[in-house]
Parts: sequence; structure tokens; C-alpha cells
Amino acid sequence: MEVVIVPDAMAGGELIAEALAALLRRKPDALLGVATGSTPLPIYQALAAKVQAGSVDASRARICQLDEYVGLPAGHPESYRSVVLREVVEPLGLGADSFMGPDGAAEDVQGACEAYDRALREAGGVDLQLLGIGTDGHIGFNEPCSSLASRTRIKTLTQQTRKDNARFFDSLDEVPHHVITQGIGTILEARHLVLLATGAGKADAVARAVEGPVAALVPASALQLHPHATVVVDEAAAAKL
Ligand code: GLP
Repeated sequence: MEVVIVPDAMAGGELIAEALAALLRRKPDALLGVATGSTPLPIYQALAAKVQAGSVDASRARICQLDEYVGLPAGHPESYRSVVLREVVEPLGLGADSFMGPDGAAEDVQGACEAYDRALREAGGVDLQLLGIGTDGHIGFNEPCSSLASRTRIKTLTQQTRKDNARFFDSLDEVPHHVITQGIGTILEARHLVLLATGAGKADAVARAVEGPVAALVPASALQLHPHATVVVDEAAAAKL
């Protein structure tokens, strides 16, 4: 695992956007796995700026989702499908046909999970998966104690994660209890994992993921098992390393 400490979130965003641009120059139709939350926004802004400036052509890029809420009505602005379309797909000038994600509104949720896992493989696998980290060490929505070999499946959110994500909704009650997430085993199949963590609130989780033992209690520690994992942290998030 490579750990890169950058001065701040903007520098982290720029660094990772450059890695994405380099990948797209090498492989124009790369499958990019994107994460939601506030942390990766500087990455998406920096990458969109590179596209607008003409330093990289993202027109053939393919985008895939990491996770999704279960049960939000189609088109809900906080469904991760809506978020990824708004924050990544549209700013890069891509169409919805460049984008894949699990169906959080499916009647057969288990079937939707299996279909998504299969679709990722059939698409040739994820070239670079971006990750954030939850305050409890989760990646995607793999909460503590998730199997390190897990596949895409339905999970129940912890109260802490629902509280952390309540800022995107009008009230805590509106935050769904259930989600679909790529499993840790699914995530580990991506060719390159890049985790960005910024701010003092992530310092504990980062230290446990990077320097603690590999344990289901800290899902992000599974990155230690991956042959090509990069953890980019700002100075605040690196404070406990
Ligand atoms: C959610 C997402 C994760 C993300 C985490 C942290 O739980 N499912 O993919 O990493 O939030 O979000 P933030 O970057 O806003 O702290």
C-alpha cells in the first residue's frame, strides 16, 4: 500500500484527477469506479477542469457506482445514481449510457445485487476504483464486520453512518436503512484502488485502516491485501499515522 500525504483536500483532488487523466490517456475506455460523499468532489472538479481545458479526452470513459440506497424513488436527488450523474457523468460531458450502477429500486434486491456484480465482470472489471472512508472505517457501504470476501449485496446501515449521511437529507428519518454495496471482495477485484481521506474526523479511521491489523472490524484495512492500493490523505487525516 502506498500512502501519499498532501497538504489539503484540493491537492488530493488534483493528484488523483491527474492519475485518472493518465489512465484515460493510456486506456480511453477505462472503467472508473466512483465514490459518493463530500470527499471525492475535488477529484471530480479537477478532472472536469482537465477535460474542459482539453488536456484529457474522457469521451469514451465508463463510470460505475460503488453503492446505492435501497428504496429511494427513481430520480430522488440523493440517490447515488442521481449524485453520480450530477457530480461526475454530466460534468465530464458523458451520457447516462456511459454509466452503470446497482438498481436500488428493484423489487428483487438480491437479484439486482447479483446482476450488478456480474455486470462489472462482463464490463471487463474496474480499472480504477475511487474510495472514501467512513468514520467507522467503512468503504462503500461495507460496515464494520462485513466479510472481507463479500460480494455485492444488501446491507443495513449503522446508526452512525445514517447520522453521518443525514446532512444530505431533510432529516435523519429520511436516510434509508438499507443499501446495496459492492462487497469488499468485489472492490478488491479492481485493478487499482485509490482511497482519499481528508479532515481530522477521518484520522482515527485512516490510522486503523493503514497501520492496524487487517480485520473485518475495519473494512478499509482490506486495502492492505490489494497489490495496487494508494491512500491519499491530507495532513489532518494523516495526524494519527
Ligand atoms: C458514504 C459512502 C462512502 C463514503 C462515505 C464517506 O457512506 N457510501 O462511499 O466514502 O460516505 O463520505 P464523506 O466523504 O462524505 O465523508
